[in-house]
Amino acid sequence: MYQEKLIFSLIERGWYSCDSFLDPLLCNVLLEELLSLPLKAAKIGKGSSEQIIPDIRNDSLYWLDEKSGSKAQKVYLEEMHNLMMILNRELFLGLRQFEGHFAKYDKNGFYKKHVDQFKENNERIVSVISYLNTPASGGELRIYSRENPEIIEEDISPKAGRLVCFLSNQIYHEVRPANCERYSIAGWLRTNIQ
Ligand code: OGA
Ligand code: MN
Repeated sequence: MYQEKLIFSLIERGWYSCDSFLDPLLCNVLLEELLSLPLKAAKIGKGSSEQIIPDIRNDSLYWLDEKSGSKAQKVYLEEMHNLMMILNRELFLGLRQFEGHFAKYDKNGFYKKHVDQFKENNERIVSVISYLNTPASGGELRIYSRENPEIIEEDISPKAGRLVCFLSNQIYHEVRPANCERYSIAGWLRTNIQ
């Protein structure tokens, strides 16, 4: 990962992407593990307002847990910790914790345009997505302009090993339907510890 470009891009446009963030072997192990885990339908909102709304998103999830997770999952969490340290050092973001989940979108799955920060809770500061497979077509992460969220700024194709991160409260984005299953780890660097 290019630290300078990461910092520059986050400041300049609110998001950053790079390839080969995940080592290919680690990426394969994480994908294998995802395929064997009991994933559950994703929800919208937080706490008592949590609901399954398949018209908005229809991915399924498995939350990472550093205590019960595998060696590969621990390595991933360490990578997120390293990223958190870089962002704290360079941007003084005061990040303290990572929360994240494996995600599976079935063929034609989607997540409509949204921001990641909850209205009632501003602990999610930086969103971080790593892709675990490479759909032949579709499945893009559509990023909207920070200055004008009506304008599409970039469609980033999911690709094994690729990383995308963005400011959770500023960047509108959506997941476009893919022609096959789409696998990733999505997570958030946060300020507070629950
Ligand atoms: C999310 C999300 C983007 C992606 O999980 O909130 O926007 O590319 N994911 O998977
Ligand atoms: Mn999102």
